[in-house]
Amino acid sequence: MSNRPELKAPPEIFYDDEEACKYTSSSRIIEIQSQLSERALELLALPDDGVPRLLLDIGCGSGLSGETLSENGHQWIGLDISPSMLNIALEREVEGDLLLGDMGQGLGFRPGVIDGAISISAVQWLCNADKSSHEPRLRLKAFFGSLYTILARGARAVFQVYPETVAQRELILGSAMRAGFAGGVVIDYPHSSKKRKEFLVLTCGPPSIRSEVPKGKVDDMESCSDDESSEDENQTVSISDRHRPRKKQKINKKKGKGKEWVLKKKEQMRRKGNAVPPDTKYTARKRKARF
Ligand SMILES: C[S@@+](CC[C@H](N)C(=O)[O-])C[C@H]1O[C@@H](n2cnc3c(N)ncnc32)[C@H](O)[C@@H]1O
Repeated sequence: MSNRPELKAPPEIFYDDEEACKYTSSSRIIEIQSQLSERALELLALPDDGVPRLLLDIGCGSGLSGETLSENGHQWIGLDISPSMLNIALEREVEGDLLLGDMGQGLGFRPGVIDGAISISAVQWLCNADKSSHEPRLRLKAFFGSLYTILARGARAVFQVYPETVAQRELILGSAMRAGFAGGVVIDYPHSSKKRKEFLVLTCGPPSIRSEVPKGKVDDMESCSDDESSEDENQTVSISDRHRPRKKQKINKKKGKGKEWVLKKKEQMRRKGNAVPPDTKYTARKRKARF
């Protein structure tokens, strides 16, 4: 059986008291979460002006990732579906505000109030249907649609993800693009099975320099390779830049109903005995627009 936790149980069940405790006391996990969060924060590319930003940590768990945000001087709100993980975050007295909730049901904040979002090893959970009412496509739509709304224009969201298949990566990326985000996938150390990490880097709002996807990291050995194809692969992979589909424009219906219709109506009125002006060459003529 696969080792992937997403395939074992729904997140709020998988991350029970025992697993949450194990997770947060593993020095290896602590180090990995901290490195991934540092990299996510780097990819978030917040202005270097020393101003603390209000950030969202989606799937914040026990607050390991959030701690990196605090250490960098930012305020944060963490959302997680597992009460056990959040209890550990409370015990650890993390600085962020914690919310118990399911990202697949959307994020309930006021529009434009969040300056950036990170998510470490959490979003791929949305690709599984844990209940009969769960439809991954709809849950991803609710998630990315609400995220787009609550982020300030020009803000970024960075997700470190472990998609199980190429189809899952495309499902996640496609849902983000349909919600209106621009961006793509950054892959660090693409040739190392151990160090390889995927980040979805999304920008909210109209296309700008910020929607360009940064390059992934490579080891010195990898960057020295003289094999052109591998060099290409070391760059950012899969850049997408689609935008929220425009609302369908109303089809400009032909104005007026035509001379034939007007003549018919006038005839009907005459038959009813009404006083109707005679038909002339000016009847039902096109008029110039008045301003
Ligand atoms: C691998 S852990 C990452 C924890 C966190 N980044 C940290 O530093 O401790 C993934 C987290 O995603 C959360 N998660 C999974 N599905 C979720 C959902 N639908 N809504 C909110 N959180 C979810 C899990 O409960 C879990 O805490």
